[in-house]
Amino acid sequence: MCGIVAYLGKKTAQPILIEGLKRLEYRGYDSAGLAMLSGGIIKIKKTKGRINDLEKILDKPIESETIGIGHTRWATHGEPNSVNAHPHLDYTGKIVVVHNGIIENYSTLKTWLQSEGAKFVSDTDTEVISNLIGYFYATGNGAAGQNKFEWAVQRALKEIHGTYGLAILCSDFPDTLIGAKNGSPLILGVGDSEYLLASDAAAIVEHTTQAIYPANNEVVVITAAGFHTKTLDNVTVTETIKKIEFSLEQIELGSFPHHMLKEIFEQPKSLSTCMGGRIDIQNNRIKLGGIASYLRELTRTRRIIFTACGTAFHAGLVGEFLFEHLARIPTETEYASEFRYRNPILEDGTVVIAISQSGETADTLAAVEQAKERGATVLGIVNVVGSSIARTTDAGIYLHAGPEIGVASTKAFTAQVAVLSMLAIELGRRRHISSFHATECMKELAKIPDKISRILQQSDHIKQIAAANIDRNNWLFLGRGFNYPVALEGALKLKEISYIHAEGLPAAEMKHGPIALIVDGMPAVFIATEGPQYDKIMGNIAEVKARGGKIIVVATEGDNNIKKYADHLITVPDAPEIFQPMLTVIPLQLMAYHAAVLRGHDVDKPRNLAKSVTVE
Ligand code: F6R
Repeated sequence: MCGIVAYLGKKTAQPILIEGLKRLEYRGYDSAGLAMLSGGIIKIKKTKGRINDLEKILDKPIESETIGIGHTRWATHGEPNSVNAHPHLDYTGKIVVVHNGIIENYSTLKTWLQSEGAKFVSDTDTEVISNLIGYFYATGNGAAGQNKFEWAVQRALKEIHGTYGLAILCSDFPDTLIGAKNGSPLILGVGDSEYLLASDAAAIVEHTTQAIYPANNEVVVITAAGFHTKTLDNVTVTETIKKIEFSLEQIELGSFPHHMLKEIFEQPKSLSTCMGGRIDIQNNRIKLGGIASYLRELTRTRRIIFTACGTAFHAGLVGEFLFEHLARIPTETEYASEFRYRNPILEDGTVVIAISQSGETADTLAAVEQAKERGATVLGIVNVVGSSIARTTDAGIYLHAGPEIGVASTKAFTAQVAVLSMLAIELGRRRHISSFHATECMKELAKIPDKISRILQQSDHIKQIAAANIDRNNWLFLGRGFNYPVALEGALKLKEISYIHAEGLPAAEMKHGPIALIVDGMPAVFIATEGPQYDKIMGNIAEVKARGGKIIVVATEGDNNIKKYADHLITVPDAPEIFQPMLTVIPLQLMAYHAAVLRGHDVDKPRNLAKSVTVE
């Protein structure tokens, strides 16, 4: 939520910042702004709306302006308008800030600063940061041997409770850019005589693939001569430069109209990358290097708790079925937002596994911290390398799904399920199932990417189904067993990008209430693939059909029996039930995508949403 980008170098900053903001726009898109620092003067332009709207109010870039900061916002405190848009200038007119995060004690600080004479113009929590830095800069003495701007930033941040990724400029220091981080992501790209600070690597890779990842409560001070990182107590931190592991091509649309469609179609490849080198059929092993030293503990664990939000939570539910089925380990999946505020019982021998694409989701991160405080071993299944959850957990498995830009998560879901499948097989092999069974599972899992390619060929057919039902405002998604979480995921996808109300349910639950919703022509999407509950779900289909529901079925290729019940039929290749979710979810992703496009929505930037929910 919110994207920040900052540039210091020899090139004209404005186009670099605009390009960077466009790459971060998926993080927030209700207002945007830039501040340039030139010859000791701060120039700010900001507006409600998207980066395109910001571009309309910008003057022509000035070649000599080579330092600036930018922001794309997802509003938390204060409605989206040009006053609340970032950057925020302090009351002395010297300090300007862009911020991603939430300042929890902003109200107390604001009252105090006002009593000290500071003026506020916006409703944001961020203005407290600029004013606090401005206050210490104006009234403090600084520290011997340290530049006063840096000192004022450290001093102010000691007063702040909350999360921040910050880029800060001071008009008295025309060659200095300061970044700071606590709980929100921040990366410093280190180029050839140029530096970029950003919320994520997408805004950086075009310029450099060398980066450092400051830790929480660290301040990084950048000048043309180089950079240094310090703690808030002014202790120097040694940073290691790391390589950003993705390319520009991976974050560009290519020939696709939307990132979401590109990412849906990428799944055969992203899954192959995720599983490549990990499934070792010859030696009957799954190699998960990141958690190698925890495998013993996991094998003996008495209980596993998955914790996650949204789509990642649905992946966790699939994981629950997999772990219980293959490894016979009692497993639960908890919404991170609930888990963190409960008083969870984490007996000795419980392992908590956080699942997150971004690795920055505030609730999931808080759940990780809560579990760690209670002494549990906490592992992560995360996509973004170096993200907060990846760093906070004891160990983890990266998805290697490549950057996911579309706000609606697609390829991360299938990669999460693939990682959970691999882990369940490996634990199963060590605990419960025979070597033969484990090998069979590995072989089946390795076939999934090709099977997804076959499903993707039905994209136009699925579009026609979406078109035939596009005027319906209520949909049901129903599945059983391993496909019940897929029903939840199908409903979530449809809701979030096409704004159609949808409910996902275990199919048998329908009779306990939701069946009352069924009216003539209401689309009901059934996942009715072959498996132990096939006959049961056929019964559920009959019940909905008898009440006039429009039956859309995701069935196994070659199932002729089901044709007579289906108004619309989509098929997926045959696969063991335990691996079906990675197949059955694909038509539902495509259905949501096409429905959103047919309804004229901005698929990659759905209303009220932003990628990576870094606020509670
Ligand atoms: C839905 C979606 C969200 C995320 C959720 C968790 O399409 O993208 O529901 O799955 O916000 O995000 P991560 O996985 O980044 O923790």
